[in-house]
Amino acid sequence: MRVLSVASECVPFVKTGGLADVVGALPAALEDQGVEMRVLLPGYEAVIAAMGKHKTVAEEDNLFGGPAQLLYGKVDGLGLYVLHAPHLYDRTDGSPYLGPDGKDWPDNPQRFAALSWVAAFLARAGAGKFKPDILHCHDWQAGLAPVYLKQMGGGAATVFTVHNIAFAGLAEAHHMGELRLDPAGFHPDGFEYWGQISALKAGLVYADRVTTVSPTYARELRTPEFGMGMDGVIRTKGTAMRGILNGIDEAMWDPRSDELIPAPFDAPHSKVPGRTALISELGLDPTAPGPLLVAVSRLTEQKGFDLLAAALPTLLSRGGQFALLGSGTPEIEEQFLAMGAADRRVAVRTGYNEPLSHRIIAGGDAIAVPSRFEPCGLTQLYGLRYGTLPLVARTGGLADTVIEANHAARLVGAGTGFLFDAGDLDGLRAAVWRMCDLWEDRAAWLDVATAAMQHPVGWRASAAAYAELYGELAGGASAAA
Ligand code: ADP
Ligand code: GLC
Repeated sequence: MRVLSVASECVPFVKTGGLADVVGALPAALEDQGVEMRVLLPGYEAVIAAMGKHKTVAEEDNLFGGPAQLLYGKVDGLGLYVLHAPHLYDRTDGSPYLGPDGKDWPDNPQRFAALSWVAAFLARAGAGKFKPDILHCHDWQAGLAPVYLKQMGGGAATVFTVHNIAFAGLAEAHHMGELRLDPAGFHPDGFEYWGQISALKAGLVYADRVTTVSPTYARELRTPEFGMGMDGVIRTKGTAMRGILNGIDEAMWDPRSDELIPAPFDAPHSKVPGRTALISELGLDPTAPGPLLVAVSRLTEQKGFDLLAAALPTLLSRGGQFALLGSGTPEIEEQFLAMGAADRRVAVRTGYNEPLSHRIIAGGDAIAVPSRFEPCGLTQLYGLRYGTLPLVARTGGLADTVIEANHAARLVGAGTGFLFDAGDLDGLRAAVWRMCDLWEDRAAWLDVATAAMQHPVGWRASAAAYAELYGELAGGASAAA
């Protein structure tokens, strides 16, 4: 089985969030399932730089405003296609999506339509002696690919995975011709969304199967509260929509061999040196008697850190401390930086910092994910793996991966963390309180941390679920081609 995975991010080349972790981990996870997965990425400077030896497998003189080449190379065993189109992706400042002014790049519709166009071309014609059976598209940046493939006459079955419904990938309708979209699809049952083109909706409507990254989020997406305007479309997918839980890359996130942490460990009681080093590095109070709660997150409305800020006095009143590594909305960053400046028991670091994220996740006692919604969430999984107990909102993938360490669960060694209802500040305070209670019983805490470290967080089951999904589709795809 051959699968082309197309996305705007992929570890270790380019990352702004969990999408990159997942796209980067899937190929190796699926190899064990007999699936050959290659990845197609936009040719951002960092991606081109990381490519090493490669060849040009296709060319176009004018791809949405400039010349483009499709490159192929193998990087650390991964088959990587890169769309080299400097007019679209070569930007010195900003991020993959935002310019230096913090606003979307104005040509985002063209940038990701180009990626999707080339994905469809590859799925139809193949390149570099590889013709996929399945085209697997991630989030809106790849959402137009199933439409283009249909326009080209098909050639592979398509899967669209929703990592986050919050981004609709909108473009003004007048771009339709320029984006090479057949206007026949511009209607409410197609890619039209309230008078605009939505790449997200295109993926949802035109892909043969839609998945999202946890079973609970799959259910939530059918509701107006979580569907963000797409719940109606999602309901029409019926059983063609399913939730397949993310795993983590267990080689990259392994407390026994992690080279980014000062003292590797294989049991919760051996976390102490890393904890002590972290407290010292961050200038926290080494004598504080309570637990060290940590978080590593984008700081946006979704992530609920305004609630956590309001619950921090509860943590501090019980002798606890808090360390945050986060970046995002300037107001939220400033709020936390001010709290850090005012109280020695709160440490805040902004910016993106991979090594520090490992030290924080390994050195913390508990990790907070207070999201309003969370398709899957990865840091609670890293927390489990490192015996850093997740304190999370009961929503999406957080609800599917953390077991409240209540009396019954602890009796059978199953509890791994603390949950509260999403958006419920009193509930969050109560969860913090329960965490502090457990902390005061060292033996009980270590039992829960041991259960957390043993909880399966790898890709095995979910890779099998993806392989099964591809298998279901592959027969139908060759018939349609
Ligand atoms: P999302 O994709 O919504 O941001 P996830 O929990 O799925 O949420 O994934 C976030 C990923 O980004 C994790 O790998 C996390 O460790 C990482 N991350 C988030 N913020 C930072 C940061 N400031 N520095 C380093 N890594 C970060
Ligand atoms: C998104 C979601 C996050 C998920 C990640 C990877 O960014 O916000 O919950 O873990 O994608 O699927």
